[in-house]
Amino acid sequence: MKYAYFKGKIVPFKEANISIMNHAFNYGTGVFEGIRGYWNQDKKQMFVVKLKDHFDRLQRSASLALKSSLRQTSDELADITVELLKKNGYREDVYIRPIFYKSEEKIGLGLLGIKDDFCMYVSPFGEYLNISKGIKVCVSSWWRISAQSVPQGAKITGTYINSSLAKAEALERGFDEAILLSHERTVAEGSGENLFIIKDGKLLTPPLSETILPGITRVCVMDLAGQELGIKTTERQVAQNELYSADELFFCGTGAQITPIVNVDNTDIKDGKVGPITKKLQEIYFSAVHGETARYSDWLTPVY
Ligand SMILES: Cc1ncc(COP(=O)(O)O)c(C=O)c1O
Repeated sequence: MKYAYFKGKIVPFKEANISIMNHAFNYGTGVFEGIRGYWNQDKKQMFVVKLKDHFDRLQRSASLALKSSLRQTSDELADITVELLKKNGYREDVYIRPIFYKSEEKIGLGLLGIKDDFCMYVSPFGEYLNISKGIKVCVSSWWRISAQSVPQGAKITGTYINSSLAKAEALERGFDEAILLSHERTVAEGSGENLFIIKDGKLLTPPLSETILPGITRVCVMDLAGQELGIKTTERQVAQNELYSADELFFCGTGAQITPIVNVDNTDIKDGKVGPITKKLQEIYFSAVHGETARYSDWLTPVY
């Protein structure tokens, strides 16, 4: 991490520091994104995935959760990202983390009239979860924070305590990741991933009304499944017991990419191996995000 974007300009990473009195640090009053850039060695190119969509979601998060707006448009933020990536010069897969946050040094809650700022850093990043072998998950005892508690669809730094508690519980109990239920006890999502079920050759995923994050990869998966495999996705409430009887299960997300789930609560999904549709979706997803499928080139922003 050589350079970051901080207080309106690109600076050496070590100079991008905030005070311990910073409002977002104290109260979780920030909104953020996670974006991936994939390095394609043959093309000597880095492709950033769905860059504009991520900044559009950041703008929505800012207005819903911080009652504020960024000074830059999504296109301008995309340009800053490309500039920051070029300056860092990475020739490997990276993760990009933009944060819009209440930056004032101020004791006291509230949002209105509290100054905000935008920063962004980039880090080399490989697999977040085991995408080749698949993972073992548990259904968490923590429920997904509801739309009565925080605005639906916003990616808020403070609410990630909910995800962190679920993830920590899963790791403590010997699992790799957690699935959180909604307040209605139906399946919501993973701690940082959306969830898909495959049953009888069909795809099923919880709807956005389940207080899940409206994942960008979730939409990519539905597009790929429909266009490349002719499989339509049904968005409907999913009961917990449907997890155990699924033919295949997988998580998707910027970090998780497409991660097969081979076991839930110590029950194998089918034979406990990565299923064929999940494998196929992984192949076409990785081809698309590496700039190998012309049809999906509009998903990607080349850096160099
Ligand atoms: C709670 C949660 N759900 C789902 C996702 C997947 O969203 P996306 O595909 O936009 O990365 C994320 C990742 O940001 C997340 O944190």
